[in-house]
Amino acid sequence: HPRFDFVVVANRLPVDRVVDGDGNASWRTSPGGLVTALEPVMRETEGAWIGWPGGTVNDIEPFDYNGTWIEPMPLSAQEVEEYYEGFSNDTLWPLYHDVIAPPSYHREWWDSYRTVNQRFAERAAQLAAHGATVWVHDYQLQLVPGILREMRPDVTIGFFNHIPFPAYGIYSQLPWRTQIIRGLLGADVIGFQRAADAGNFQRAVRRLLSYEASGTTITVPTDEDGKVTSGSRNTKRPSGPTRTVVARHYPISIDALAYERLAREPRVQERAAQIRSELGNPRTIMLGVDRLDYTKGIRHRLKAYGELLAEGRLQIEDVSLIQVASPSRERVETYKQLRDEIELTVGRINGDFGTIGHSAISYLHHGYPREEMVALFLAADIVLVTALRDGMNLVAKEYAAVRYDNDGVLVLSEFAGAADELKRALLVNPHDIEGLKDTIMTAVEMPRAERSRRMRAMRKRVMEHDVAVWSRSFLRELSPYQLSRGGTD
Ligand code: G6P
Repeated sequence: HPRFDFVVVANRLPVDRVVDGDGNASWRTSPGGLVTALEPVMRETEGAWIGWPGGTVNDIEPFDYNGTWIEPMPLSAQEVEEYYEGFSNDTLWPLYHDVIAPPSYHREWWDSYRTVNQRFAERAAQLAAHGATVWVHDYQLQLVPGILREMRPDVTIGFFNHIPFPAYGIYSQLPWRTQIIRGLLGADVIGFQRAADAGNFQRAVRRLLSYEASGTTITVPTDEDGKVTSGSRNTKRPSGPTRTVVARHYPISIDALAYERLAREPRVQERAAQIRSELGNPRTIMLGVDRLDYTKGIRHRLKAYGELLAEGRLQIEDVSLIQVASPSRERVETYKQLRDEIELTVGRINGDFGTIGHSAISYLHHGYPREEMVALFLAADIVLVTALRDGMNLVAKEYAAVRYDNDGVLVLSEFAGAADELKRALLVNPHDIEGLKDTIMTAVEMPRAERSRRMRAMRKRVMEHDVAVWSRSFLRELSPYQLSRGGTD
């Protein structure tokens, strides 16, 4: 195996495998935000990326992709079911999103999660050079830091949690709550989206392990080799050796300039104009863009919109709602149910209010390339982000980056991490349907000068705190650990 100074471990690879009509497979850069976030770092360091290629093909050889070593981690059909769809997306995902949907707890799923995490950690241990930095991502891989620390005390480990970390009262439901906390504490730096998430994690550590946690640091008692002690020598004032773990927030962002540049392309602007005219140039175009997920509050949004039409506060000839709902985790039951409910609601609203030439909602169950999304953002007078819980929500930041004309109104849920930063959005509680309706009407009626003031402020934040700032500030927090282990910066 080749060895690398920088290794990323994530459930997904940064490339997608595409199979053409003749059955030939090739790879293309996947559209996800994490890929763009790490692209500059990967380019500088010539690092490796370990991840699942999707599906159950298990004979894909590692390969070089634009200077990044791609290390595919195969999952069996059973692991896809138990580790990915089961424990990751039917236990942890709903639990960490404040039990919006009830989490399922199954011991077989947990066993599979442990097995797969073990395998990712072993592969990272094989690929990491002496003194390397390993950056582990997201809720699918929370045990990797702990396992890797045991195997490779020389490496510096960062972990970033892209989704919320719930309050202790919710987290404590998890039958394996202590194992997960210990797994995470194998990292040197544990990053979260919001200060509240980091606080929730620290409280869980204090409650479950009695470790001292204050400010942004946690003091972890260790054995002589620096490994996490698994015994009960967990006192507030440990007498033996300790490690210091940083747990704080580093809000993720987007490649804001890339979005703005795309928005300035004439062909993208033409496409935006085309979208508006295809909808009949209504006075107000509203847009929702989400993975089809119950955390996104799509139902609440549709309910508010339907009621505004029913009450005559919105007139069908003046308004159009585009809802992009990209397919996601389609074999998980909760997602199937959600899709049925949403499609029923969309059908009802269109049936009740649509006319022959004009439907109330354009519902699109597809993913789209970035360019098309940018055209949609340019075409949209209002973007609705009504998540019930969301780690960050990058759609909100993308809209701000695209609108270099300082126009457009963002309606943003208080329950999305982005609300901590985009304070000049129209903030809403999506559970309060009347409040949501009033806010949508405020957006519809907002004068140009106010739209411009608000968008300007949001854009300033997004352009200045882009994804490069995010990855740099996280990696900067890791560098003293690496130096103290005798590695180079
Ligand atoms: C969220 C998670 C990511 C995940 C993405 C898409 O953003 O934080 O870890 O990759 O959703 O979900 P999927 O299950 O398709 O990877």
